[in-house]
Amino acid sequence: MKFFLDTANIDEIKAVNDMGVISGVTTNPSLIAKEGKDFKETIKEIASIVDGAISGEVNSDDAEGMIKEGREIAAIHPNMVVKIPMTAEGLKAVKVLTKEGIKTNVTLVFSATQALLAARAGATYVSPFLGRLDDISTPGMDLIRTIAEIFAIHNIETEIIAASVRNPIHVIDAALAGADIATVPTKVVNQMLKHPLTDQGIEKFKKDWEATFGK
Ligand code: E4P
Repeated sequence: MKFFLDTANIDEIKAVNDMGVISGVTTNPSLIAKEGKDFKETIKEIASIVDGAISGEVNSDDAEGMIKEGREIAAIHPNMVVKIPMTAEGLKAVKVLTKEGIKTNVTLVFSATQALLAARAGATYVSPFLGRLDDISTPGMDLIRTIAEIFAIHNIETEIIAASVRNPIHVIDAALAGADIATVPTKVVNQMLKHPLTDQGIEKFKKDWEATFGK
Protein backbone atom coordinates (compact mmCIF):
# COMPACT_ATOMS: atom_id res chain seq x y z
CA MET A 1 0.00 0.00 0.00
CA LYS A 2 1.24 3.46 -0.93
CA PHE A 3 0.73 6.72 0.97
CA PHE A 4 -0.65 10.06 -0.10
CA LEU A 5 -0.53 13.03 2.27
CA ASP A 6 -3.97 14.50 3.02
CA THR A 7 -3.22 18.20 3.44
CA ALA A 8 -2.67 21.47 1.56
CA ASN A 9 -0.14 22.75 4.09
CA ILE A 10 3.12 23.41 2.23
CA ASP A 11 5.42 23.08 5.26
CA GLU A 12 3.90 19.71 6.16
CA ILE A 13 4.13 18.53 2.56
CA LYS A 14 7.81 19.53 2.31
CA ALA A 15 8.67 17.82 5.60
CA VAL A 16 6.93 14.52 4.85
CA ASN A 17 8.04 14.48 1.21
CA ASP A 18 11.65 14.78 2.40
CA MET A 19 11.17 11.48 4.29
CA GLY A 20 10.53 9.77 0.94
CA VAL A 21 7.36 8.03 2.09
CA ILE A 22 4.62 9.68 0.02
CA SER A 23 3.56 9.02 -3.56
CA GLY A 24 1.09 11.89 -3.81
CA VAL A 25 -1.09 14.48 -2.09
CA THR A 26 -4.85 14.80 -1.72
CA THR A 27 -6.59 18.09 -1.07
CA ASN A 28 -10.24 19.03 -0.72
CA PRO A 29 -12.03 22.40 -0.51
CA SER A 30 -11.88 22.37 3.31
CA LEU A 31 -8.12 21.68 3.35
CA ILE A 32 -7.46 24.41 0.74
CA ALA A 33 -9.66 26.89 2.63
CA LYS A 34 -7.81 26.11 5.87
CA GLU A 35 -4.57 27.42 4.31
CA GLY A 36 -6.40 30.56 3.05
CA LYS A 37 -4.32 30.89 -0.13
CA ASP A 38 -5.22 30.92 -3.83
CA PHE A 39 -6.25 27.42 -5.03
CA LYS A 40 -4.20 27.37 -8.23
CA GLU A 41 -1.07 28.78 -6.59
CA THR A 42 -1.33 26.29 -3.72
CA ILE A 43 -1.74 23.35 -6.09
CA LYS A 44 1.14 24.55 -8.28
CA GLU A 45 3.41 24.75 -5.26
CA ILE A 46 2.40 21.25 -4.10
CA ALA A 47 3.08 19.84 -7.57
CA SER A 48 6.51 21.48 -7.59
CA ILE A 49 7.40 19.66 -4.34
CA VAL A 50 5.89 16.18 -4.73
CA ASP A 51 6.60 14.01 -7.75
CA GLY A 52 3.32 12.06 -7.71
CA ALA A 53 -0.45 12.25 -8.06
CA ILE A 54 -1.88 15.54 -6.74
CA SER A 55 -5.65 15.63 -6.24
CA GLY A 56 -7.41 18.97 -6.65
CA GLU A 57 -11.17 19.06 -6.16
CA VAL A 58 -13.86 20.75 -8.25
CA ASN A 59 -16.44 22.98 -6.57
CA SER A 60 -19.24 22.92 -9.19
CA ASP A 61 -22.40 20.85 -8.71
CA ASP A 62 -23.21 20.28 -12.39
CA ALA A 63 -21.29 18.13 -14.88
CA GLU A 64 -20.62 21.04 -17.23
CA GLY A 65 -19.02 23.09 -14.45
CA MET A 66 -17.05 20.12 -13.13
CA ILE A 67 -15.70 19.36 -16.61
CA LYS A 68 -14.61 22.97 -17.09
CA GLU A 69 -12.94 23.07 -13.67
CA GLY A 70 -11.48 19.61 -14.24
CA ARG A 71 -9.79 20.69 -17.46
CA GLU A 72 -8.36 23.75 -15.71
CA ILE A 73 -7.04 21.64 -12.81
CA ALA A 74 -5.51 19.10 -15.21
CA ALA A 75 -3.76 21.92 -17.07
CA ILE A 76 -1.92 23.03 -13.89
CA HIS A 77 0.55 20.11 -13.97
CA PRO A 78 0.85 16.68 -15.68
CA ASN A 79 0.53 14.96 -12.26
CA MET A 80 -2.87 16.45 -11.50
CA VAL A 81 -5.83 14.25 -10.61
CA VAL A 82 -9.29 15.83 -10.68
CA LYS A 83 -11.24 15.06 -7.54
CA ILE A 84 -14.95 14.80 -8.19
CA PRO A 85 -17.79 14.16 -5.72
CA MET A 86 -19.79 10.94 -6.07
CA THR A 87 -23.00 12.22 -7.69
CA ALA A 88 -24.76 11.51 -10.99
CA GLU A 89 -23.35 14.80 -12.33
CA GLY A 90 -19.95 13.82 -11.01
CA LEU A 91 -20.05 10.51 -12.89
CA LYS A 92 -20.94 12.33 -16.13
CA ALA A 93 -17.90 14.55 -15.60
CA VAL A 94 -15.68 11.51 -14.89
CA LYS A 95 -16.80 9.89 -18.15
CA VAL A 96 -15.91 12.98 -20.21
CA LEU A 97 -12.62 13.74 -18.44
CA THR A 98 -11.53 10.08 -18.65
CA LYS A 99 -12.09 10.12 -22.43
CA GLU A 100 -9.80 13.15 -22.58
CA GLY A 101 -7.08 11.23 -20.73
CA ILE A 102 -7.54 13.20 -17.49
CA LYS A 103 -7.18 11.23 -14.25
CA THR A 104 -9.99 11.40 -11.70
CA ASN A 105 -10.48 10.61 -8.02
CA VAL A 106 -14.12 10.04 -7.09
CA THR A 107 -14.52 11.29 -3.55
CA LEU A 108 -17.11 11.07 -0.77
CA VAL A 109 -17.68 7.37 -1.45
CA PHE A 110 -19.66 5.71 1.34
CA SER A 111 -20.94 2.49 -0.29
CA ALA A 112 -19.67 -0.33 -2.51
CA THR A 113 -22.30 0.47 -5.15
CA GLN A 114 -20.98 4.02 -5.38
CA ALA A 115 -17.44 2.66 -5.79
CA LEU A 116 -18.54 0.27 -8.55
CA LEU A 117 -20.36 3.01 -10.45
CA ALA A 118 -17.37 5.33 -10.17
CA ALA A 119 -15.07 2.58 -11.48
CA ARG A 120 -17.35 1.88 -14.42
CA ALA A 121 -17.52 5.59 -15.27
CA GLY A 122 -13.73 5.39 -15.62
CA ALA A 123 -12.41 6.75 -12.32
CA THR A 124 -8.67 6.33 -11.81
CA TYR A 125 -9.19 6.32 -8.02
CA VAL A 126 -12.12 5.96 -5.63
CA SER A 127 -11.94 7.42 -2.14
CA PRO A 128 -14.06 5.63 0.47
CA PHE A 129 -14.17 7.75 3.68
CA LEU A 130 -13.63 5.32 6.51
CA GLY A 131 -13.34 7.77 9.43
CA ARG A 132 -16.60 9.51 8.63
CA LEU A 133 -18.36 6.11 8.52
CA ASP A 134 -16.81 5.16 11.86
CA ASP A 135 -18.11 8.49 13.19
CA ILE A 136 -21.69 7.33 12.54
CA SER A 137 -21.08 3.88 14.05
CA THR A 138 -20.74 2.12 10.69
CA PRO A 139 -17.45 0.21 10.34
CA GLY A 140 -15.58 2.05 7.60
CA MET A 141 -13.06 -0.75 7.21
CA ASP A 142 -15.80 -3.18 6.10
CA LEU A 143 -16.43 -0.90 3.15
CA ILE A 144 -12.75 -0.83 2.13
CA ARG A 145 -12.62 -4.65 2.35
CA THR A 146 -15.81 -5.11 0.31
CA ILE A 147 -14.70 -2.73 -2.44
CA ALA A 148 -11.27 -4.41 -2.59
CA GLU A 149 -12.90 -7.84 -2.92
CA ILE A 150 -15.28 -6.71 -5.67
CA PHE A 151 -12.52 -4.95 -7.63
CA ALA A 152 -10.30 -8.05 -7.35
CA ILE A 153 -13.07 -10.46 -8.50
CA HIS A 154 -13.85 -8.30 -11.52
CA ASN A 155 -10.30 -7.20 -12.37
CA ILE A 156 -11.22 -3.56 -11.94
CA GLU A 157 -8.15 -1.36 -12.27
CA THR A 158 -9.52 1.65 -10.39
CA GLU A 159 -7.33 2.14 -7.32
CA ILE A 160 -8.79 2.35 -3.83
CA ILE A 161 -7.67 5.26 -1.67
CA ALA A 162 -8.56 4.74 1.99
CA ALA A 163 -9.57 8.28 2.95
CA SER A 164 -10.69 10.02 6.12
CA VAL A 165 -7.94 8.16 7.97
CA ARG A 166 -7.82 9.19 11.62
CA ASN A 167 -5.18 7.01 13.31
CA PRO A 168 -2.40 4.44 12.72
CA ILE A 169 -4.77 1.49 13.32
CA HIS A 170 -6.81 2.74 10.36
CA VAL A 171 -3.64 2.58 8.25
CA ILE A 172 -2.76 -1.00 9.22
CA ASP A 173 -6.35 -2.21 8.79
CA ALA A 174 -6.70 -0.46 5.42
CA ALA A 175 -3.51 -2.19 4.23
CA LEU A 176 -4.88 -5.57 5.35
CA ALA A 177 -8.29 -4.81 3.81
CA GLY A 178 -6.69 -4.32 0.39
CA ALA A 179 -6.57 -0.54 -0.07
CA ASP A 180 -4.03 0.43 -2.76
CA ILE A 181 -3.31 3.75 -1.10
CA ALA A 182 -4.03 5.41 2.24
CA THR A 183 -4.25 9.19 2.26
CA VAL A 184 -3.08 10.25 5.68
CA PRO A 185 -2.98 13.54 7.58
CA THR A 186 0.48 14.62 8.80
CA LYS A 187 -0.53 13.96 12.40
CA VAL A 188 -1.07 10.28 11.55
CA VAL A 189 2.28 10.04 9.71
CA ASN A 190 3.97 11.30 12.88
CA GLN A 191 2.01 8.84 15.01
CA MET A 192 3.07 6.04 12.64
CA LEU A 193 6.75 6.78 12.86
CA LYS A 194 7.11 7.38 16.59
CA HIS A 195 7.72 4.63 19.15
CA PRO A 196 8.87 5.26 22.75
CA LEU A 197 11.21 2.23 22.63
CA THR A 198 12.98 3.72 19.59
CA ASP A 199 13.56 6.97 21.49
CA GLN A 200 14.70 5.10 24.61
CA GLY A 201 17.00 2.93 22.48
CA ILE A 202 18.67 5.94 20.85
CA GLU A 203 19.12 7.56 24.24
CA LYS A 204 20.76 4.40 25.67
CA PHE A 205 23.10 3.89 22.70
CA LYS A 206 24.21 7.50 23.07
CA LYS A 207 24.80 7.17 26.82
CA ASP A 208 26.79 3.91 26.47
CA TRP A 209 28.91 5.36 23.68
CA GLU A 210 29.67 8.55 25.55
CA ALA A 211 30.49 6.65 28.78
CA THR A 212 33.37 4.93 26.93
CA PHE A 213 34.42 7.38 24.20
CA GLY A 214 33.17 10.71 25.52
CA LYS A 215 31.07 13.21 23.57
C1 E4P B 1 -9.86 12.54 1.19
O1 E4P B 1 -9.41 12.66 0.08
C2 E4P B 1 -10.31 13.64 2.04
O2 E4P B 1 -9.56 14.78 1.74
C3 E4P B 1 -10.07 13.37 3.51
O3 E4P B 1 -9.48 12.10 3.72
C4 E4P B 1 -11.27 13.60 4.37
O4 E4P B 1 -10.92 13.35 5.71
P1 E4P B 1 -11.81 13.84 6.93
O5 E4P B 1 -13.03 12.99 6.99
O6 E4P B 1 -10.93 13.65 8.12
O7 E4P B 1 -12.15 15.28 6.65
